[in-house]
Amino acid sequence: MGTKNTIKKAKDHFAQLIEEQLERIEMMKAQTEWIDYRSLKPILIGVCRGDGIGRIISKHAQRVLEHMLRKERADGLVEFRDIEGLTIENRARCGKAIPDEVLDEIKKCHVILKGPTTTPQEGDEWPNIESANVAMRRELDLFANVRPVKIPREGIDWIFFRENTEGAYVLGSRGLDVNEDLSIDFKVTTEQGAERIIRMAFEYAKQNGLGRVTAVTKANVVKTTDGRFSRLAKKIADEYKGCGIKQDEWYIDIMTAKLLDPARRKDFQVMVLPNLYGDILTDEAAQLQGGVGTAGSANIGKRWAMFEAVHGSAPRMVTEGRDIYADPSSMIRASAMLLGHIGFPERAKHLDMALEICGQFEKKIVTTGRDTGATGEEVTSYLLDWVDNPDLENKWQEYTEGQ
Ligand code: IPM
Ligand code: MG
Repeated sequence: MGTKNTIKKAKDHFAQLIEEQLERIEMMKAQTEWIDYRSLKPILIGVCRGDGIGRIISKHAQRVLEHMLRKERADGLVEFRDIEGLTIENRARCGKAIPDEVLDEIKKCHVILKGPTTTPQEGDEWPNIESANVAMRRELDLFANVRPVKIPREGIDWIFFRENTEGAYVLGSRGLDVNEDLSIDFKVTTEQGAERIIRMAFEYAKQNGLGRVTAVTKANVVKTTDGRFSRLAKKIADEYKGCGIKQDEWYIDIMTAKLLDPARRKDFQVMVLPNLYGDILTDEAAQLQGGVGTAGSANIGKRWAMFEAVHGSAPRMVTEGRDIYADPSSMIRASAMLLGHIGFPERAKHLDMALEICGQFEKKIVTTGRDTGATGEEVTSYLLDWVDNPDLENKWQEYTEGQ
């Protein structure tokens, strides 16, 4: 192909992407109403098991949720639905990140509990299809990826608001090999997309009496997309000055260092950041909390919400026969977030307390990812014993105040 044709092909590709993004902006502008869970009877919780260890840890998380919602289930106020087919085998067979009939079933539910799914890369045994996570976040417009990380013994209580439908991800499977020498990817920030996540972070700070929101960018280098994100963070901060909320901005590189700085890190509270930086920083934060297996993730949109672990499907644990030893805490954390989101904040709090007692303080039964530790099932039973323990709140206070 001559240079002229090569450029024409690239231009057409770019034009198509711009057209789609402009349409997405119109869709964002049109969406105003949030779903009201109190008006739903029943609230439908769809469960997608996923791949690898997801098949097991999603069962443990469902067991916990069914326990916490046993009364509502009996009264027909909450219903669980098994959604089949969000497996790498089925996705590869259909050549789609989420097969159409699976997406239809997902959309019939109100919230989704999702096990980790395999995300192929070129050269893997699977076709190089788009990530099911990225597709679900886009299809359901789950724009806010909310990831709390707490280390009570160090006074760390962080919450990350990761933008979830734009950045380097939204066109991550739509980059262009212009010719045999040149590859280009696209990174997107829209006014509406950045504003809604930044606003959510500030609202959270306001509602929880927190005085600081930190934007994380690389706006000194990635000047256009991160530049817009940074500008909006400052603009929205102005509106919240009266609430006593300060805004600051850190570049992603120094931020990854600062999370390791014991003298500074506990001062961070609410962080808001574009998609890829959020992906990276939340894995680091989760590792500090005790490993990625301990962190949960809420993907929130106005109409749907999806709850999952922050980590992947760990296929190696399955091939080595260690999947029963996988730590289900991440998905159980996500289940606590689900409970809070659909209107049961007290129960969410109790589940969080039990998770902290079991995972950070008492640690009587722990997983190690292999047969030197407990199974996921044992850890789940241990946790449920604590959730039902009348001494739960006292014990939690004793532990956290003793720090
Ligand atoms: C996460 C995961 C996903 C992401 C992968 C599985 C596509 O790492 O939820 O953080 O990159 O967002
Ligand atoms: Mg990640």
